[in-house]
Amino acid sequence: MRYMTGNEIRNAFKDFFESKNHMILKSFSLVPDNDPTLLLIGAGMAPMKKYFTGEVEPISRRIATSQKCIRTGDIENVGRTARHHTFFEMPGNFSFGDYFKDEAIAWAWEFLTDVMDLDKNKLYVTVHPRDAEAYDIWKKYIAEDRIFKLEDNFWEIGDGPCGPDTEIFYDLGADRSCGKPTCGVGCDCDRYLEVWNLVFTQFNKVGDEYVPLKNKNVDTGIGLERLASVIQQKESNFETDLLYPIIEKIIDISEADYNDPKQKTAVKVIADHIRAVVLMISDGVEPSNKDRGYVLRRIIRRSVRFGHVLGIERTFLSNLVDVVIDIYRQPYPELMDRKDSIKSVIEKEEKQFRANLKAGMKLLNGIIDESDGVIAGMSVFKLYDTYGFPPELTEEIAQERNPEIDRPGFNECMRQQKERARNARIAP
Ligand code: SER
Repeated sequence: MRYMTGNEIRNAFKDFFESKNHMILKSFSLVPDNDPTLLLIGAGMAPMKKYFTGEVEPISRRIATSQKCIRTGDIENVGRTARHHTFFEMPGNFSFGDYFKDEAIAWAWEFLTDVMDLDKNKLYVTVHPRDAEAYDIWKKYIAEDRIFKLEDNFWEIGDGPCGPDTEIFYDLGADRSCGKPTCGVGCDCDRYLEVWNLVFTQFNKVGDEYVPLKNKNVDTGIGLERLASVIQQKESNFETDLLYPIIEKIIDISEADYNDPKQKTAVKVIADHIRAVVLMISDGVEPSNKDRGYVLRRIIRRSVRFGHVLGIERTFLSNLVDVVIDIYRQPYPELMDRKDSIKSVIEKEEKQFRANLKAGMKLLNGIIDESDGVIAGMSVFKLYDTYGFPPELTEEIAQERNPEIDRPGFNECMRQQKERARNARIAP
C-alpha cells in the first residue's frame, strides 16, 4: 500500500471512474437546489435524487463525483470516535438505469484492491439477507466466511430513492476492538471500518411506502477521510492530511496537550467543525436562528465552547480558515475568492457568542450545581434567549455532569415567546 494524500485518493477515484466511462462532475453545493425536504446535502446521491426517480433525465447514465456532505445527526460522537464528522467528503459512482450489481461490485473491488492496493485479507463485506444476487457476485472476489448477511443493509435517508446495500469493511486489527464478545463486522466500535457503501437503488420511499423505481440504479459512497486513514495508516481520520494540519494549528493557538483525552477530544471537535463551517459559508449559508443557518450557528457556537474547554479566551476560529483552505483549495478553488468573507462571518458570530459565553457558562454551572437531575425549560430558554446557548449545547454541557434538560418546557417557552412577538406586531 503506497502513501497517498487525500487529494491523490480523490483524483485516483475520479480517474478510475472516468476510465469506466463515467461523466465526472464537480461536487454539488452543500445547499440543496430546489429540494425542500433537505436542509443540507448529506450524501453523494442527494443532489441527484431526481435522476434516480426519473423526474429529470440524467445528463449521463454514469456519473461520479466527490460530494461535500454535512451530517449532524450524531454530532456528539464527533471527536470521540475515529470516524465521525459533521463535514466529510463522499466519492461515489452512480448508475441511472445503466450498469447494476455486477459492475458496481467488480469496480469497487478493483479500485480498493488494485488502485488503492488494500490488503485483501483485511477486507470483509456485508449484504442484505435477501440479496442472494449480491452475495453470489461477492463470492467471485472474497471467501464466503468474509461475507456477512445483515438485516441493516438497506440504505434510506428520509423520503426518496433507497434500496438494499452492500458494505465493504477494513479490519484495523484486534487492538482496535471494543473487546466485547459480540464484536465483529458491523460492530459500532473502531475495529471494522466501513469504507464503502454500494446501494442498489430500486425504490422510492414516499411516506411509509416503497414504490419500485422504473430503473435499477446504483449509488455508492466512500468515506474519503476513512479511506485516507487506512491508506495513510493513521490512528483515526483526524491524523490524516485532511484534518491534521488544522489540529496542529489549534494546538499551536491553544497549547493543548494532544495526549490528554479531554483536550484531544476538544481539539478534534474544533478541527472537524471548522471544516464544516468554512465549507458551509463558502456555499452561501449564514448563521441564523432557523434551518441551515441554525445548523451553522450551532456548529460555530459548539466550536467556541470547545475552545473554552481548551482555555482559549479570545476569538480564534477565523485564524483556522487559511489552513482549511490550504487543504481544500485544489478541489474547491472558489474558497480562495471567498476567504475574506468566510473569515468575517465567522469572526462576527464568534464575537457575538463570546460576549455571553462566560456569563452563560457561570449561570449554567450554577444551575447544574443546584439541579435535582433536570434543568427546567425556563432556564434552558434563558440561556438561549439571553446568552445565545443553543438548547443542544446546554443539553450537552449538562449531560457531561449528568442532568437532563426539560425539552418540552423549553419548547413551550419558545412558543410563548413567538406568540408574544406576534401579538406585539398586531397590537394597535
Ligand atoms: N447513499 C449511500 C450513503 O450515503 C451511498 O452513497 O452511504
